[in-house]
Amino acid sequence: MSDERTNRAAAPKAANEGVYHLRLREGDVPAYVILPGAPERTLKIAENWADVREAAFYREYKTVTGRYGGMWQAAASTGIGGPSSEICIHELSVLGVHTCIRVGTTGCITPEYDLGDLIIPVACVRKDGTSHAYIEPEFPAFADTHVVMALMKACERLGFKYGLGLGYTVGSFYIGQGRPLNEDYSGYWPSFADKIIPDLQRARVTNIEMETSAQYVVGYLHGMRMGAILSVIANRVLDRWGDEGGESKACLAACEALKILKERDERKS
Ligand code: URA
Repeated sequence: MSDERTNRAAAPKAANEGVYHLRLREGDVPAYVILPGAPERTLKIAENWADVREAAFYREYKTVTGRYGGMWQAAASTGIGGPSSEICIHELSVLGVHTCIRVGTTGCITPEYDLGDLIIPVACVRKDGTSHAYIEPEFPAFADTHVVMALMKACERLGFKYGLGLGYTVGSFYIGQGRPLNEDYSGYWPSFADKIIPDLQRARVTNIEMETSAQYVVGYLHGMRMGAILSVIANRVLDRWGDEGGESKACLAACEALKILKERDERKS
């Protein structure tokens, strides 16, 4: 595989002729894809499917396909943060994917949500870093309205409590989310870090995580429909951490929402 075409620096191809990082070829995935961050969460999503198949696994990118209520779906892990998400979304778009739902975890900063609750971010503050490589910082990071509506309908059908959120996506888990570096005894704590959470609370931001704004902007600029459903794993107001069943609920709601979207698309065509 050493001819000119397969080794173009501008758009490298994998040895199997697939997209470079995801190692997927045309036809390997459907147009509707769920995006967990963690590779192992693809299997949690697949618990809701029949005919499960691993399509590829390279670095942080694991892709699994299967059938949810007869509909062919895929879950492709993005890794943590904006840069690895950008790679994943671009390569999925090359393969014809047009609709993505991120399934992730988040820290809530309002008393209104608790561990295990679900948040559907309609928009995010762009502190992700990656989306700035695509477009000016004033450009909004927003979810596709139909994806949001499908996620709401899915949660209602499944009896899951959810809320709509305004997220803060940041390319840092510790200082950038107002977490002191206590364990390493470095003592580094910039004065601005004290203000991160109180200022976001004043602006009525609901939650903090590391991927959504990058995915919304990069996906939108690729002409894709993007949305997300996040389970609250951290309550920053009460200083509590735990899944409380939220991850499984978010995975199932995303599968159901993709089905709702596909049925809607078929009715409209
Ligand atoms: N993901 C984050 O980025 N932060 C949290 O607090 C929880 C999940």
